[in-house]
Amino acid sequence: MAIKPVLRMGDPRLLEPSRPVRKFRTDELNNLIADMRDTMKSLNGAGLAAPQIGVNLQVVIFGVEKNPRYPDAEEVPFTILVNPKLTPVGDDIEEGWEGCLSVPGMRGLVPRFLKLRYQGFDETGKKIDRTVSDFHARVVQHECDHLAGILYPMRIRDLRNFGFTAELFPDEEIADE
Ligand code: NI
Repeated sequence: MAIKPVLRMGDPRLLEPSRPVRKFRTDELNNLIADMRDTMKSLNGAGLAAPQIGVNLQVVIFGVEKNPRYPDAEEVPFTILVNPKLTPVGDDIEEGWEGCLSVPGMRGLVPRFLKLRYQGFDETGKKIDRTVSDFHARVVQHECDHLAGILYPMRIRDLRNFGFTAELFPDEEIADE
């Protein structure tokens, strides 16, 4: 399909709550997902939410392949998640560094639930129900926040832990998300 421009923080469309998808196996949904995959891949992102390309629907995609350059980064299976519902498992919260394609060149330290259950549907309407933790749980929380109009800087507890990637991590070569 097509690589779409990613909206950046400050665009009011990123603050709108998204609507649920009502019908599966439609051209509208299939084309949206194809555009999201192309856009995420072109930018080397770990995830993308539909509102980031200006579509106000509850659709997120995410996935992180094993990368020899980042041996410590956990693998997250490529997932298309529609109409997600998140339920934290336990009260444990962990802070971790995040970036976002809508906030390019920056990183912030964000608290997230360590473990959570997520439910929803794949692109064909098949149910998804997983309980995950750590980085996988973080990626899901970040992407689903976009559907509620929340960008990660809004969750940073101490804004001293927010800045430009090149200044925060001068010795590391880090992709934008
Ligand atoms: Ni993001």
